[in-house]
Amino acid sequence: MELLIKNCNIVDSSKKTIKQSDLHISNGIIKNIGKDLKNKCDKVINVKGAFVLPGLVDIHVHFREPGYEYKETIKTGSLAAAKGGFTTVAIMPNTNPVIDNVEILDNLKAIIKRDACIKVMPIGAVTRGQKGEELVDIKSLYENGVYGFSDDGQPIMNEEIMNKAVKQCNELQIPIMIHSEDKRYVNDGCINLGRVSEKLKVKGISRDAENIMIKRDIEIARNLKLSIHICHVSTKEAVCMIRQAKQDGVKVTCEVAPHHFSITENVILEKQAIGKVNPPLRTYEDIEEIIKGIKDGTVDAIATDHAPHSKDEKQLDIQKAPFGLTGIELALPITNTYLLEKGVIDIFDLVNLMSINPRKIMGMDSRGIEIGGYADITIIDLNKEYILNESDIISKGKNTPFIGMKLKGKVKYTICDGKIVYEEE
Ligand code: NCD
Ligand code: ZN
Ligand code: ZN
Ligand code: ZN
Repeated sequence: MELLIKNCNIVDSSKKTIKQSDLHISNGIIKNIGKDLKNKCDKVINVKGAFVLPGLVDIHVHFREPGYEYKETIKTGSLAAAKGGFTTVAIMPNTNPVIDNVEILDNLKAIIKRDACIKVMPIGAVTRGQKGEELVDIKSLYENGVYGFSDDGQPIMNEEIMNKAVKQCNELQIPIMIHSEDKRYVNDGCINLGRVSEKLKVKGISRDAENIMIKRDIEIARNLKLSIHICHVSTKEAVCMIRQAKQDGVKVTCEVAPHHFSITENVILEKQAIGKVNPPLRTYEDIEEIIKGIKDGTVDAIATDHAPHSKDEKQLDIQKAPFGLTGIELALPITNTYLLEKGVIDIFDLVNLMSINPRKIMGMDSRGIEIGGYADITIIDLNKEYILNESDIISKGKNTPFIGMKLKGKVKYTICDGKIVYEEE
């Protein structure tokens, strides 16, 4: 397959340059970058000056297969990811069965091979059944093709087990991605403990649930002098702790989800369980600190935590409905609308937060668009403004509070290994 892309504005975040040129892609590799390329290709597209970025990478999604195919599958999730501009995603193991042994992993790999239109990297569970009690065989899962370990959805309360897991993952130089939540402070809560939970008279989750566990996990990394990655940071205190830890030389990276830097718990007053997610939507003060953390490099990556659920489940009473929002198709527009448009970050920062740093965390080749590099490319138009409709969402999970809201920015093309996997109509 030969592809020629005319009139690109290629964004290079390491050099902080935007280069006007054409791109020639051959057999999944970037063959040439230059002005007025005239190769004879199977396909020629003219992107008319659109920004051309290294393919976006989402290191935290839930595609629900095997076990919850009614919520999402590898096929529907990867198509939605391609629409969102992602060429690679890391999928969390809280499926049914949990991805905690090689046999289950092999089955998942076969599904990915059959159904995925982009690169889908399985994450293995840290403990059997994600029960937090007994470590999985980390080495054999690693050798058979997981790209990271996480008990996401469940905390690992036992500190000794966490210590062992951090050591084993570091030995293999594979990320351990931590869902930091101290169960003792959750108190059956379903949204942030505060103004909104009081108003609605529903049980709240104390912010200590996140803060106390992140504190513990940072201390583990500090004492062991080893790396950890913290998932979906959502409180101002957590951002401050991670900032300080980084200054102290602790090897900690973290991600934030788009919904945690854009909307607050107030959304729940209007949208009920559609705004129920773990960690919960917080307050404007939390958003301010997260934004500070995005600006100063405390936050390494934007990851969606795309968590699809069915309509029926999300229509339940807020106390009974499951936690989770979808967002893989919205990460780029939300980031553009709430960060780029507001002048918080520039296009280079966006590339670092959504492509380069996520690749580094996952141990992937993190170079940008270069001759000889693999042709994973996202082409975007940041000027398109629209009100999000439910019918715009192709993921099975329509559970996002952004429906009805105004967003700016769209993906025009997603190219994975030189193949066009998404093309705007
Ligand atoms: C996730 C899910 O639904 O699997 N839910 C969520 O609210 N984020 C689990 C998780 O990421 O902790
Ligand atoms: Zn060609
Ligand atoms: Zn989680
Ligand atoms: Zn998650």
